[in-house]
Amino acid sequence: MKGLILSGGTGSRLRPLTYTSAKQLIPVANKPILFYAIEALKEAGVEDIGIIVGETKEEVRAGVGDGSRWGVKITYIEQEAPLGLAHAVKIAEPFIEEDSFIMFLGDNLVREGVVHFARKFEENMPDSLILLSEVEEPQRFGVAELRDGKIIRLVEKPKIPPSNLALVGVYLFNKNIFKAVNNIKPSWRNELEITDAIQWLVDNGYTVEPHLVIGWWKDTGKPEDMLEANRLILETVETEIKGHVSEDSQIIGRAVVEEGARVINSTIRGPVVIGKGAVITNSYIGPFTSISEGVIITNSEIEFSIVLEDSRIEDIPARVDRSLIGKNVTVRKGDTRPKANSFVLGDNSIISIM
Ligand code: DAU
Repeated sequence: MKGLILSGGTGSRLRPLTYTSAKQLIPVANKPILFYAIEALKEAGVEDIGIIVGETKEEVRAGVGDGSRWGVKITYIEQEAPLGLAHAVKIAEPFIEEDSFIMFLGDNLVREGVVHFARKFEENMPDSLILLSEVEEPQRFGVAELRDGKIIRLVEKPKIPPSNLALVGVYLFNKNIFKAVNNIKPSWRNELEITDAIQWLVDNGYTVEPHLVIGWWKDTGKPEDMLEANRLILETVETEIKGHVSEDSQIIGRAVVEEGARVINSTIRGPVVIGKGAVITNSYIGPFTSISEGVIITNSEIEFSIVLEDSRIEDIPARVDRSLIGKNVTVRKGDTRPKANSFVLGDNSIISIM
């Protein structure tokens, strides 16, 4: 069985972060989301993995490399534009050849991994196995309608959802999916939809099996989803202190302090991860916070947040909460007159002040 990870697209819902970074490379608990997909496939015994790349191909290649770090072989497949998930499948045919494959959306996280689904697919040998999860806002996803446990209809982001069962971004297919993607037409948004391709399989008598995901699953498409995914992953970290924690600091609960990081006169209340070389001074880092490499936090309090590489938070009087802070960002208290808030904010930034 091969693997196909989709890491193209534009990431428009995560701007401004995705102006400078592929959305699949944004770290959750200090590890790029995409890496979780590679690890899940490797765990299921899949070692031949194609990655669909678009505009951000150079960055994805630089981050992932040839896969040897995980003991897998990565083949990059260039998609000229984000023309849809089924279009990605179509252009992957020369790589997949006659094999079955697991397709994994590069911005999705699935708690229980994919081992179980791969085995179920191999045992039952349907043409496709799709994963479903009960969600609160089905209109944000592809939605499945079942009758007597069988799939009868799939619709992409319906205004009036026929059920609360969303399609999770992990799909298993055999080679018949290529017949489907070659027989469907682009949707109203001009994309070849994977939901239409699977519907084609259903309508043409192929077997499509549903599987309900029990553990959590996250599509990290929006900032609040990223923070929630970060919380869910941090729930699973174990304490590991490789950096320096001064005697006047306190670590409560589970925390990872990576090599070269320094925690001085500060309180860390886990679960928290603090990346390489980060320096936390006279500060409080609260639960569900990921601090990336090289971040400096001084005289400030932060919780339930993600701070990306080399950013600085200095002398902030109020606690920073539920925030997603990009790379090389500076947030600091101004010390000049007149006393005023002063901002340099990118397009689509969100800022709440008190
Ligand atoms: O997350 C689950 C949902 O994913 C499903 O419920 C939907 O049925 C499915 O269409 C998909 O919806 P999204 O709107 O979340 O898809 P998005 O455009 O965010 O793309 C998902 C991933 O695939 C993302 O990592 C970008 C990549 N991609 C997307 C397109 C459209 C590509 O590599 N190429 C593409 O052409």
